[in-house]
Amino acid sequence: MKKIIVANWKMNHSFEEADKWLEAFIDGYLGNEESFKNIEAVVCPPLFLIDYLDGQFLDGAIDALEESVAAKERKLEDLTSEDLFKMALESRPFSLGAQNCHHENAGSFTGDVSARMVRDISASYVIVGHSERRQYHFESDEMVARKAEACAAQGLVPIICVGENKEIRDEKKHLEFIYQQMLYSIPRGVKFERLVIAYEPVWSIGTGLVPSVVEIAEVAQLIKKILTEKGQSLAKEFFVLYGGSVSEENAKEILAIENVDGLLVGGASLDGSRFVKICV
Ligand code: PGA
Repeated sequence: MKKIIVANWKMNHSFEEADKWLEAFIDGYLGNEESFKNIEAVVCPPLFLIDYLDGQFLDGAIDALEESVAAKERKLEDLTSEDLFKMALESRPFSLGAQNCHHENAGSFTGDVSARMVRDISASYVIVGHSERRQYHFESDEMVARKAEACAAQGLVPIICVGENKEIRDEKKHLEFIYQQMLYSIPRGVKFERLVIAYEPVWSIGTGLVPSVVEIAEVAQLIKKILTEKGQSLAKEFFVLYGGSVSEENAKEILAIENVDGLLVGGASLDGSRFVKICV
């Protein structure tokens, strides 16, 4: 099973910075194609950059394909523009995702974007219930569950975030807390093609504090156990990610932990070349 490595840019990067990121990422990707076969990289930029990144990548890829076709002395005229577009799209080494969505398809919800709209802009994943959304936008488990359900209805993969704060960890109530969060944040009666749960301890996000291998393993095992018990009725496949101060220094060690199927990376994903180092 491929590991999933998600870049969560949060509210960062302009068009120009996105171009730089893409250049650095592609630069690092070339020469590391073999390692990238073992992972799926998912980039979650701010919404306005999703379509832009897709377009910028495709333009560059089509140029490169034209060059390689010419180098092989095949006639470009033999290929239709659809062929080129398809070849370029298949060569994109990352998927795209949004950082949030609304649970309704449309309506009077100023400032919101629905899962259906997200689907229309070449995204295939959506992060739902990130602790920053729970904290600053007062999203409850029930709201998170409705968003995840909306994602499933649109064929999008939800990345549902769970994780305890420092107080709960200190009281050693984290397992109980995460169990409850999962119970109410995963919609009932919905069958997912793929479901991703990200364990992100709030005290670790952006702080440089990383739980020990044993601590991550304990929670990853609990999440896997809950998902496995629900089994095929819940999702055809499920993944457990770890997130919180992941860097190129600790990524390998965390990825090697049993039941950890990938990473959700914030700060260290903002630089394309750092993100590549985490992926390879
Ligand atoms: P961080 O953020 O890697 O900067 O700690 C992770 C996240 O919030 O998803």
